[in-house]
Amino acid sequence: MTESIMELTTNLEKKEVYILGIESSCDETSAAVLCNRKVLSNVIANQKVHAAFGGVVPELASRAHQKNIIPVVDYALKEAGVHKHQLHAVAFTGGPGLIGSLMVGTSFAKAFALALNIPIISVNHMQAHVLAHFAYRKKESKNEPEFPFLCLTVSGGHTQLIRVDNAYQMKLLGATNDDAAGEAFDKIAKLMGLPYPGGPLIDKYAAEGNPLAFKFPVPKTEGFDFSFSGLKTSVLYFLQKKKEENKNFVEENLKDLCASVQHTIITTLMNKIHHAVDETGINQIALAGGVSANKGLRKSLTDAGVAHGWKTFIPPFEFCTDNAAMIAVAGYFKFLKGEFATQMHAPFARFTGF
Ligand code: KG4
Ligand code: ZN
Repeated sequence: MTESIMELTTNLEKKEVYILGIESSCDETSAAVLCNRKVLSNVIANQKVHAAFGGVVPELASRAHQKNIIPVVDYALKEAGVHKHQLHAVAFTGGPGLIGSLMVGTSFAKAFALALNIPIISVNHMQAHVLAHFAYRKKESKNEPEFPFLCLTVSGGHTQLIRVDNAYQMKLLGATNDDAAGEAFDKIAKLMGLPYPGGPLIDKYAAEGNPLAFKFPVPKTEGFDFSFSGLKTSVLYFLQKKKEENKNFVEENLKDLCASVQHTIITTLMNKIHHAVDETGINQIALAGGVSANKGLRKSLTDAGVAHGWKTFIPPFEFCTDNAAMIAVAGYFKFLKGEFATQMHAPFARFTGF
């Protein structure tokens, strides 16, 4: 049965619920204020400190969160025009993520909510990426999937194909056996001498390159699972060989290399989407996670939607990469069910299910 999110929450949505969302799972410190599912503010402080190291340094991330969290929350409340005493709850990322980073957000949420005497809500980061589809800035810009739908969540830490039955029930159909899609973008970018995070740069250069210039293998994996470490290794050996012949090979072929790598990653992802549509009969497909900002992936999904009669959903850019609006909207759904956490709550590093 197809049930729209509006039917699910119509009565409760008549009440205005203000939720502060906090995201601190990796290297973005973010705070958002939502009135029900409407985003009033969504402030994201990126941590530039990691670029010099070619990847996120957990200890530096925790320290940066500690420095950023109060100003970011303060800014989010001001931008939303909401006073802290108007808040009904604080939702925070409980995991998965870097444990030190999660502890900063969790501890802040506990202390802030305790001082205001309001409940706290622990949110699963991966569930929040999916539910980002139900946050909106303006009612007119809403474009929401109906249940059930398939969601491909592609980020720096995870690659998951999910069957979403409603806001509370999600089933993991497949995941990566090794590197995540975003990790593959970032590691291959590093092999080409690009700074971290390399995903957006590959996307940028790929736009002007030939996706068929170089051929890399598309992995063959079981069912709905993915694998990206073989691609990384094959690019590594390919570049080593080519650089022996011409030390400027990467610089001279950067656009074609980026386009070819991106094409291989997108083909791998799209093959599994096709397979999932065939197996489940569900033809509403959503993208989520940082890699859903990729222009090539967005176009491939949209084109496939037109060609096969699928309904496709891609969140606005600000809700793709890690952000607190998605945490607050996931928190709102839990608020409606009264699913609150206690002050004993401890964050978790690993994804263990929905
Ligand atoms: O969801 P996210 O912000 O954080 C995690 O939870 O991991 O995803 C970050 C990942 C990084 O690997 C980054 O390189 C990738 O998303 N990314 C992109 C693009 N924008 C961000 N990858 C490819 N193309 C992009 N435009
Ligand atoms: Zn994420």
